[in-house]
Parts: sequence; structure tokens; C-alpha cells
Amino acid sequence: MLIGCVKEIKRHEYRVGLTPACVRSYCAAGHKVMIEKSAGMGAGYEDSEYQAAGAEICGSAKEVWERSDMIVKVKEPQAVEYPLMKENLILYTYLHLAADEVQTKELVKRKVKGVAYETVELDNGLLPLLRPMSAIAGRMSIQEGAHFLERPHQGRGVLLGGVPGVEKGKVAILGAGVVGTEAAKMAVGLNADVTVLDINLSRLTYLDDVFSGRITTLYSSTANREKALQESDLIVGAVLVHGAKAPHLITKKDLKIMKKGAVIVDVAVDQGGCAETTRPTTHDDPVFVEDGVVHYCVANMPGGVSRTSTQALTSATLQFGMEIAQKGLEQAARDNSAIAKGINTYGGKLVYKAVADAFGMPFTSITEILFSAA
Ligand SMILES: NC(=O)c1ccc[n+]([C@@H]2O[C@H](COP(=O)([O-])OP(=O)(O)OC[C@H]3O[C@@H](n4cnc5c(N)ncnc54)[C@H](O)[C@@H]3O)[C@@H](O)[C@H]2O)c1
Repeated sequence: MLIGCVKEIKRHEYRVGLTPACVRSYCAAGHKVMIEKSAGMGAGYEDSEYQAAGAEICGSAKEVWERSDMIVKVKEPQAVEYPLMKENLILYTYLHLAADEVQTKELVKRKVKGVAYETVELDNGLLPLLRPMSAIAGRMSIQEGAHFLERPHQGRGVLLGGVPGVEKGKVAILGAGVVGTEAAKMAVGLNADVTVLDINLSRLTYLDDVFSGRITTLYSSTANREKALQESDLIVGAVLVHGAKAPHLITKKDLKIMKKGAVIVDVAVDQGGCAETTRPTTHDDPVFVEDGVVHYCVANMPGGVSRTSTQALTSATLQFGMEIAQKGLEQAARDNSAIAKGINTYGGKLVYKAVADAFGMPFTSITEILFSAA
């Protein structure tokens, strides 16, 4: 198979779909790889590294789109890329179609085989290609929170770990999932006083076990949240209700009971945020202050650490990409239901139910297509 990787053109996207290490793996398995010139620059990879790994470097994105059997990317194609998508192209990338009707119709119209990272799902319900980005955002949340707690950055002037003889900074983490757990690890590592709140008691039990008494776990009731908000220097918003907007666990009124200069890092901003006052910000201008509380609400936090994010993402995408390259998409999807669940568009049909429902478009089951063709 000829596998292509183009430079990301979405604003502020510095990640890249393939690293030189991926190129080496694909080439070793007998495939050819084409990389658009400078595609890896944002993540710190030189063209020469790709060449050394066996890739052909191509000056034109158009040529990469035209010649490739499978394009491996990071973000959804942008409008200028739509005309470059040919029939039967395998497009393996984050697509987030349920939020983008225009793109959905383009992929269907152009008969692209669209495999969305975010819907590749293991039998146990885990989303292996979303998880690494949540892990990164969770770890970053404490790093960013610590930075904006510094006085010159509008915070309370608190050092999370304190020093001997001085109170530690207090961190409250709302949500004990992937983001919350990784945030807790970093906050504990900085020696902060950490409380994690969730409504899922088995998650709290698990964290209580693995942190061996080093954190406090609290059921996320209104009373417990209010107490945590009053006492904390840094609050991390890490809740997720699948398929719904994040609940507003911090209301505008709650800001009045919080300490002046406290920081909210609302990682759940991409689902609307768990603070009522959250609005999306960017890496260029990441914070705003409301009622004396600093809000950090960057919707694509992993983009800020593009090299780490690229390595984490491609480590997770390579195994499924390789299976597709080895067997062809159809056989790979018959053999591996995680890949089948990743397919959103196929042969001019919409094959992911939630996306079809979102736009009232006709839905066709990918299983029926794959097994009737077998
Ligand atoms: N901003 C970014 O760059 C970025 C990056 C990655 C992920 N995210 C977002 O971070 C959020 C968390 O992702 P995740 O992977 O950790 O999800 P997850 O499903 O692993 O965890 C979410 C947790 O929230 C808990 N929860 C639900 N309702 C709650 C409530 N009322 N009170 C307390 N806890 C509650 C759930 O029980 C669960 O444990 C998602 O919205 C995700 O999209 C943002």
C-alpha cells in the first residue's frame, strides 16, 4: 500500500500523522510512504529523518493526496483539501463528523473510506486513540495551573508543593477518569494537597487504592464541591458525561466563594466546560479572569506539546494503521471490530449511526456491507 502523510493546515496544529519511526515500521512491512515536505516540522521532525527511515519526500500536498492509498493525518481535512480526496481513499485521522455536517457530506459524496480515530473502540468500550490525548491534557492541566497560579500570571502567588514549614497548595480535581487520574499523578508528584471528586464510587475506590492514602477522594455532591471550591487554589475540570454537554459543576455564583487568584483549568471545555463561566481560549491567549478567578480553557491542550502528542498519538494509531495496510481496510475491519467501529463513511454511505442521527441522514451498517461482500 502507498501511505501518505500531509502537513496539517488547521490553524495552530503542529502535530503530524506519522513519525520517522512509523515510516520505518511501514517500510519494513513492505509498504511505501510519502511525506509532504516539512510535514513534521511542528513536531520537531526533519525531512531528512523521514528519508533515512525510507520515506519519499514530496513537495506537493496535492500529489500526496493523489497518489496515496491511505492518508494518515491528525485533524479532519480542511475545506481546501476536500477536492483532493479521491474515491476509495482510506482517510485515517480524527474526523469528529457529528460536529461537522459539511465535512460529513463531502466524505460521503466523494466516496472516501473515512476511519475516525475517535470512534475506534475496543470491546471493553475503551477508546484507544482518544485516551493518549486525555492523558496528555490531564498531565498538562497541573503544569498549566501551576504556571497561572504564579502572581505575575494573575494567580494567587501559591507554589503548589509549598516548602517546609509552609502550607501546600490545594488542588481539587472534578472527575476521576483518564484526565483526572493523570492530573492527580502530576499534582501528587508536585507534593500538593490533592482532592479528587467523582460520582462514580468505583473510580474513587480505585484511585484511593492506587494512591495509597496520598489523595483525598470525595463523592461529588453539591456540599462537597462547595467545600472544595472554597478551599482550593487550583481546580481541574475533568468530567465527562458520554454523548452530552459537561454538567456545570461550578456556577457563576460559586466564583464568589472561591479564593481570589484561584485558577480553574477546565479541560472539559471541548464539551462546553464544567464551569458556567468557561469559554474556549487558545494557546495564544489561554486565560481570562472572571470574578477574580483565573480561567484556563484551551480546547486543544495537547497541541501545545506537539512532539509528545505526536509520539503518543502515533504509538496508538500505528497498530491499527498497520493492520489496515497489511490486510486492506475491509479484511482488517472484518477481523478487528475496533477498526470496523472506526469506519464512519464508506462507498458513498454513512456507516456510523450517531453521525447519521445527528444530521437525519440515512444510515447503513458497516457490518452488513463487509460481510455481504465477503
Ligand atoms: N481540552 C483538551 O484539550 C482536552 C483533551 C483531552 C480530553 N478533553 C476532555 O476532558 C474531559 C474528560 O475526559 P476523560 O477522558 O477523562 O473522560 P472519562 O470518561 O475518562 O472521565 C470522566 C469522569 O467524569 C466523571 N463524572 C461525570 N459526571 C460527574 C459529576 N457530576 N461530578 C464528578 N465527576 C463526574 C465520570 O464518572 C468519569 O469518571 C472530556 O470532556 C474530554 O473531551 C479535553
